[in-house]
Amino acid sequence: MYFDSHCHLTAEQFDVDRDEVIQRARDAGVSQILTLATDVASSRAAIALAERYTGVYAAVGIHPESVREAGSGDLDILRELAEHDAVVAIGEIGLDYYWDKTTTGLQQNWFEKQLEVAAELDLPIAIHDRDAHAAIMATLERKRNPRVRGVLHAFSGDAAMAFKAFDLGFMVSFGGPITFKNNRQAPELIRALPLEKLLVETDSPYLAPHPFRGKRNEPARVIRVSERIAELKGLSSEQVATQTTINAQTLFGIASGI
Ligand code: NI
Repeated sequence: MYFDSHCHLTAEQFDVDRDEVIQRARDAGVSQILTLATDVASSRAAIALAERYTGVYAAVGIHPESVREAGSGDLDILRELAEHDAVVAIGEIGLDYYWDKTTTGLQQNWFEKQLEVAAELDLPIAIHDRDAHAAIMATLERKRNPRVRGVLHAFSGDAAMAFKAFDLGFMVSFGGPITFKNNRQAPELIRALPLEKLLVETDSPYLAPHPFRGKRNEPARVIRVSERIAELKGLSSEQVATQTTINAQTLFGIASGI
């Protein structure tokens, strides 16, 4: 059994065949999937999907690339949506200094506000960090609290940052890029990290693993990511699949089996 801890099933890229995509994941053994939101509309859509499909769970949140379009009332709407049974996390939230540096202040504000809502509701958070390692870690350090916990998704930091994140109550998640032949950091990094702190993800429809790089990604392909971790760590595929599934179930407070 596998748990795809981060994807975007509500993305329009899945509009033509969403049922088939979810069925293919199930058939492949990916029995649990967390679908992440980027704004209020996709938060609502994520909840609707989770209501419709067993084994699909929702996260609600405003992505750092969506802060410019977010309205002042959106935080209250999110808080309300987050109370829904299908919602197991707040995300994805965080900082992106790669795409747009003109909104860093606004991004920081949304990141902290949503982090506070998550703590208030005792929900884990899924963090997007692109070229913003220092600011993300400084924020988590400042907001340190037993109720602030979650995952750094598509982790791109080094081992020191990962261990700091573990200490702050976070896990780290890896996706398709660790399967790329030219990824020189991943092997050493993954060998250095304890399996008990790792999650696997697709971030589909993006970041398809080798040999599908550049194509539309889908949750069934999380298996390749899990297998790559097994290969790098010299563990069995089953061991990695089982442990990363337990890690995700624990973090998101989801029972095993469906
Ligand atoms: Ni994402």
